[in-house]
Amino acid sequence: MSTLHEELEGVVAPKVFLDWGGVMTGAEIKESSKTIEDLHRVFRDVSQAAGANPKQVVYRVQWWAPVNAGVAGGLFWGVTTIEPGRVGDEYFMTHGHFHAERTRAEYYGTVSGQGMLIRMDDDRKTWGELMSPGSLHYIDGRHAHRVANTGDSPLVFWACWPSDAGYDYATIAERGFGSRLISKEGRPELVPNV
Ligand code: PA5
Ligand code: MN
Repeated sequence: MSTLHEELEGVVAPKVFLDWGGVMTGAEIKESSKTIEDLHRVFRDVSQAAGANPKQVVYRVQWWAPVNAGVAGGLFWGVTTIEPGRVGDEYFMTHGHFHAERTRAEYYGTVSGQGMLIRMDDDRKTWGELMSPGSLHYIDGRHAHRVANTGDSPLVFWACWPSDAGYDYATIAERGFGSRLISKEGRPELVPNV
């Protein structure tokens, strides 16, 4: 049996569907995941992942790129799920990056879980923004951004960013952020990254 959409001439079915809880489906959806061992340059000491399997997934990303990366004027859309957990006193977190093109901003919108959006400007000034269900975050194109899951359930957030933003991971890989987010007496705290 055909659907109403298929019956109408000049009407096409959407390419992508969202489960707003944090899943994208569609033939064009891309996916990646990062394990503890993939993040050996992110955490201060991955050997401190107490009893953890180095192959354990820390976060997964799904995204839709309807145009090629680098094309001006397009938009990408994605979702990130960060598992709860820690490596030593550091919460599970994303690599973090600057946009290669520093004029390109981004939105993050939180669905579920508790976390911290860690931002850093070009002077290495670093600060955190609390993430909780419904929180919307506008990330200035000049700011590096990384997310940590500070709760005990998965942290899920949607993102929308320009197709020509690009990624500068190298600056973060070399020097990290100005501060690290650690768990101190059970609470998240930003401490200088020495
Ligand atoms: O575009 C973004 O900023 C996000 O989709 C991130 O890429 C995602 O959260 C994963 O973080 P990172 O790219 O820093 O590993
Ligand atoms: Mn980004």
